[in-house]
Amino acid sequence: MPAWTSPDITERMPLNIASCNAALRRLPAWPVYMGSVGYAGWIFWLGVTDQLGAEPVKVVEHALGEAALYTLVAGLAITPLRRFLGINLLKFRRAIGLACFFFVTAHLLTWAVLDVQRLSAVWADILKRPYITVGMAAFLLLIPLAVTSNNWSLRRMGPAWHRLHVLVYPAAFLGALHFALLVKGFQLKPLAFLALVLVLLLLRLPGLKSGGAGLSPAKRRAATQKFR
Ligand code: HEM
Repeated sequence: MPAWTSPDITERMPLNIASCNAALRRLPAWPVYMGSVGYAGWIFWLGVTDQLGAEPVKVVEHALGEAALYTLVAGLAITPLRRFLGINLLKFRRAIGLACFFFVTAHLLTWAVLDVQRLSAVWADILKRPYITVGMAAFLLLIPLAVTSNNWSLRRMGPAWHRLHVLVYPAAFLGALHFALLVKGFQLKPLAFLALVLVLLLLRLPGLKSGGAGLSPAKRRAATQKFR
């Protein structure tokens, strides 16, 4: 029987993807945490040492916002990558999700503490500016996900954990919408990100779920639980 007719993804995937996955499994997840903290620290350092031009706070704010968006998209891409291409990055999903939350929090704090600087003005902006309202909604949705992204919560919550973590979908949509709303005039990048997020969400529709990878629900659950 040809290898790709086997129901088990690990048996039917091409050898190069299988060896790629084996190599990925050997990599630790901690560089994701270190890299995220290091990147944020480096950006702040450039700002503090006056290397970011005339508006350092804006540059830091934007860099952290972009980092939040990239990690949000990266986290969202992990499931389709496995389902449709067989590439297994599940081991890094929690680290990428927490990195995203870290960047969003740093982005929000940079804006509130260093840019706006007054609590009343922060509150007024959240209520008045739609792109900030939307960004804030995304942030609020990410809080319970970050708080429960540990093995203890996963064990304690059981199936409710999976239901809760579906919140990442509206959070991702709102994060991308926030970016699209804040730019003035027509700009391709925010629209491209919004489209990318929508495609990554559409790839989760039930009809497409089994995709090329074809993991059974039980195996999918087992794989998710193993790496969460
Ligand atoms: C998932 C959540 C979020 C994501 C993915 C995100 C992402 C981004 C991105 C990509 C940018 C533009 C960076 C650039 O122009 O290069 C940005 C800008 C900005 N974001 Fe966010 N953001 C999020 C949440 C928030 C929150 C919670 C707030 C505040 C309550 C906020 C406030 C801002 C502000 C004030 C700007 C700059 C607007 C300007 O150009 O003046 N964001 N964000």
